[in-house]
Amino acid sequence: MSDFTNGFWPLYVAIISLVSILGCAWLLWIAGKAKVTGHPGQVQDNTTGHVWDENLRELNNPLPRWWMWLFILTVIFGLGYLAIFPGLGSFTGLLKWSTDSEHARDLTRIRAQAAPLYAEFTAQPVEALVKEPRALAIGERLFMNNCSQCHGSDGRGSKSYPNLTNANAAWLGERGAEHIVRTVTSGRTGVMPPMGAAIGGDAEISELANYVLSLSGSPHNEIKASNGKKMFSACAACHGMDGKGNKALGAPNLTDDYWLHGWGEAAIAGIIKNGKNNVMPAQASRLTAEQIHVVSAYVLSLSRSSFSAAAGTAVPLVPPRQTP
Ligand code: HEC
Ligand code: HEC
Repeated sequence: MSDFTNGFWPLYVAIISLVSILGCAWLLWIAGKAKVTGHPGQVQDNTTGHVWDENLRELNNPLPRWWMWLFILTVIFGLGYLAIFPGLGSFTGLLKWSTDSEHARDLTRIRAQAAPLYAEFTAQPVEALVKEPRALAIGERLFMNNCSQCHGSDGRGSKSYPNLTNANAAWLGERGAEHIVRTVTSGRTGVMPPMGAAIGGDAEISELANYVLSLSGSPHNEIKASNGKKMFSACAACHGMDGKGNKALGAPNLTDDYWLHGWGEAAIAGIIKNGKNNVMPAQASRLTAEQIHVVSAYVLSLSRSSFSAAAGTAVPLVPPRQTP
């Protein structure tokens, strides 16, 4: 009952609950005490004075004992329940029970059950787990529950959400256990500053966008691209003189045909003009370090057939996809 935002309502609810229960008890007491007597002047023969069908009289017997006790026990139960469990406004109850604490207890119990299994997995490096089918099966389930809403159930991402099956060259960071574990644990923010003002008007931005398209051999306007080339020096600090990107800064490779934020002149001009703040939220509050270890192995396995842990390099399992 910690959901109340206003001090009045918990009091209101508590008072109505207590008044209702005590009201029942009071009614019971009054009904047990008050004697119903016949009309004045009538023979007092323990009847209410109501007569039907000439001689059918309504007796005024007390309620059966068992029924009375049932009623009293109900009132006692109600008061006891409200003392022990949360129910009276924001009073947490003597047991301090809550759905939150019950959920936390379940979670602790389940994690304790899974601990020996995870201990076996965390004893091995992430790269070794790529060959461990049981770890991958758990990793896949963790991925489906925690990552697929952004990265897709096949890990191939969508616009602004990176394709995790890509080869290293198309990754924002250095594809490997360390980068994946760090990203999942702490999240990451990719910041491309808005560069419109530094570049000039729409005409200049269009020329620069055509130059960027030329870097990957994408269809582009040759004249615009050659005019745009000199402006690329403003981008080189992050994306490199050759446009191959900088993984330490998270600046993507502009020479491949993988476009995180959309492909084509309009999309690239938009990024140059408005920049991009791309956020992956940290998952450490939702997943344990052991779970992150295992889900990272699953991510590494997404292009496993071509991943050589020894060489630390990867070639694409599926060709990088263009996001139009
Ligand atoms: C709310 C959406 C969201 C969720 C949930 C999410 N991610 Fe991400 N993830 C992103 C975004 C956006 C980026 C790109 C950040 C950037 O541009 O720097 C990203 C980046 C990454 C990267 C780095 C890719 C690269 O090219 O370097 C990895 C690895 C990754 N996520 C793995 C995961 C895993 C594993 C999970 C689940 C435990 C997960 N993500 C959950 C949105 C999400
Ligand atoms: C301060 C560093 C920095 C500078 C300067 C910079 N960028 Fe970027 N750029 C980034 C980062 C980081 C990203 C990735 C954002 C993300 O994680 O989503 C990015 C993304 C992009 C993308 C999207 C790539 C894709 O795959 O969709 C394009 C296009 C781009 N930059 C072009 C440029 C151009 C052109 C310039 C020069 C005008 C420039 N950038 C200057 C850091 C920079």
